[in-house]
Amino acid sequence: MEIIPTDKVLGARIEGLDLSHPLTEMENTAVVEALGKYGVVSFPKQSLKANELKAFSSSFGTLEINVAGSYQEPGQPEVMILSNIVEDGKPIGLADAGQDWHTDMSYSKDVAFANVLYGIKIPRRDGIALGCTEFANMHIAYEELPDSYKSRLEGMTATHDFNKFWETMRREKGSSRPPLTEEQRRKKPPVSHPVFLTHPITRKKVLYANPGYTIKIDGMDLAESDEILEFLFKHQLQKKYRYKHEWNENDVLMWDNFGTLHNAVADYGPDEHRLIKRCQVMADKVFSSSL
Ligand SMILES: [Fe+2]
Repeated sequence: MEIIPTDKVLGARIEGLDLSHPLTEMENTAVVEALGKYGVVSFPKQSLKANELKAFSSSFGTLEINVAGSYQEPGQPEVMILSNIVEDGKPIGLADAGQDWHTDMSYSKDVAFANVLYGIKIPRRDGIALGCTEFANMHIAYEELPDSYKSRLEGMTATHDFNKFWETMRREKGSSRPPLTEEQRRKKPPVSHPVFLTHPITRKKVLYANPGYTIKIDGMDLAESDEILEFLFKHQLQKKYRYKHEWNENDVLMWDNFGTLHNAVADYGPDEHRLIKRCQVMADKVFSSSL
């Protein structure tokens, strides 16, 4: 296998691996280390059945089964379908674009380590790929935080709430979804995580807060917390920390949810079809000593 870094702030391409076959332990370790170092890795020109995508992904940790059951691969609930394709009046997958910057599952007590996406249909206009996935580098965002913020927030936690994202979609994205019910909110209660997390692979600190789900710095009065969060969100999304993946069909793209934030760019229309299959890898294995 060969790991070819981009010359950007994130990203590497990994060639010479056929992901439809199990990786050796050495290859697996090299992929995990590359993921920590580069945040986002792509494996071009793969050919994967859903069960092979699942097998590859599950070598990095337990796979999440998303609650949006209707968008799962039949018989394989760990494989989720992301798409804007409508067949017989029914969407075949979850429309994932337009969610703005976030970190998957930071609202959950058990957090997600990595996403593995397999691009099957990629929309293009005038030969240019649409529906890019953008990332921001949270290792450097931490490193370059002013010292006053580093010392003020050291050892502190922040609250993350799924409802923040849900309400933003309702309020700002024209979504017709109803508010979460009391029962749904009980199932996804707000949780706290360290503002600065020690990354399980690099052992360096990352900024683990994101505009999608983070609502408050714990133990601070609300005005100060709001002010600090506003600064952190602006700081972490500066252009110099960003990297954009332009998709090709048959790319497998894997990213680290601790070292990056991501944003699915919604620049394609309903007739510009996109089809991606996705597995979400939980952080259980990467936080254990088995890797
Ligand atoms: Fe996401």
